Amino acid sequence: MKSKRVLSGMRSTGTLHLGHLHGALSNWNKLQYEYECFFGVMDWHALTTDYESPGQMNQKVIDLATDWLSCGINPGSSHLFIQSLVPEHAELTLLLGMLTPMGWLERVPTYKEQQNNLREKDLSTYGFLGYPLMQAADILVYKADYVPVGEDQVVHVEFSREVARRFNYLYGRDANYLEKAEQALERMGKKNAKLYRRLQKAYQEQGCHESLERGQALVEAQGHLKLEERERLTGYLEGVGKILLPEPEALLTKNPKLPGLDGQKMSKSYHNTISLRDKPDVVDEKVRTMQTDPARIRLSDPGNPEKCPVWNLHQVYSSEDTKQWVQEGCRYAKIGCLDCKRPIIEAIQKELAPIQERAEPYIENPTLVKSILNEGSEAAREEAKETLIEVREVIGVDYR
Ligand code: TRP
Ligand code: SF4
Repeated sequence: MKSKRVLSGMRSTGTLHLGHLHGALSNWNKLQYEYECFFGVMDWHALTTDYESPGQMNQKVIDLATDWLSCGINPGSSHLFIQSLVPEHAELTLLLGMLTPMGWLERVPTYKEQQNNLREKDLSTYGFLGYPLMQAADILVYKADYVPVGEDQVVHVEFSREVARRFNYLYGRDANYLEKAEQALERMGKKNAKLYRRLQKAYQEQGCHESLERGQALVEAQGHLKLEERERLTGYLEGVGKILLPEPEALLTKNPKLPGLDGQKMSKSYHNTISLRDKPDVVDEKVRTMQTDPARIRLSDPGNPEKCPVWNLHQVYSSEDTKQWVQEGCRYAKIGCLDCKRPIIEAIQKELAPIQERAEPYIENPTLVKSILNEGSEAAREEAKETLIEVREVIGVDYR
């Protein structure tokens, strides 16, 4: 049994590039064997910016999932789902909207940034303002422990934590919560209850986070208690009622950013990508025509790798020996830029070959991808439904 849960996702904006592989996907690949993983194709999030041209959404969803599968995301180990097939995301977004102050949304830095970056689109919409809230619902609806994301998304995970905290504060303290917590505590046994109280005090009076963590672990280890009792006791540690929606933690992807063909971060909007589906001749062409150090006009002109985007790629793809060869060859004009690029071209082609081979059956048979997504969405929905039952109950909108 994998005990901790991971949720992540990508907007369905089409096929992926090498930056996604080196960033998110290589990380997801490992996580799926350590944790229970939910990976969402976020089509509603894509609509927040692409609402004027939604026609190709179906193809984009399939393309995204195909690329995940070809990179090794394994539907036997993780749940691949489509956001809009789990309508509980929408319901939770709506309900959380009741308690989310406007100012919190307006102050999320990505809100203004993206409006400035995507000037050709009208993003002064309700949906776009609510982007981080919908993302919070994506995460909280599964009570995810961890959210693997790149640096740019950490603020959104942080935002989710704040929304969860507010929700727990408002709805986690039902009638008699103290009494109920004390009852649950008694069922832990004398020794454990004493330890619990010591840790609770250390956290509440001295703000000792280590004590909080030890307390949480202690509660989690009480397998004989009901889930509801454990939720109560985790909340009581912090002086709140039940932790209905646990605060998720961002797992920052550690890999360095993959530089694009021009040395900037690889990104579709900079038109500097190598797509996961680029065939060997396209990779060859793209790398051969890359900018190099402008000082190297002729073969006899010495260059400086630090001024060359090709060198950035060597740092990702090349061995120490090759890097040494580049440094020498470039600075003393012993190699040409095409020679220098050769090992990179080969490394990328070699990296992409098995991915493209794995993609083939899915590209030929998109219904296979659809059925994987349907199955994953059903599994995801089972979990999301459970959360919504609890959420409706504490808010008081359950009439079933
Ligand atoms: N906003 C994320 C991005 O642009 C995509 C996303 C939507 C997401 N919902 C999520 C990521 C939930 C992590 C968790 O990359
Ligand atoms: Fe760049 Fe290599 Fe040419 Fe030097 S030799 S300028 S590192 S491509």
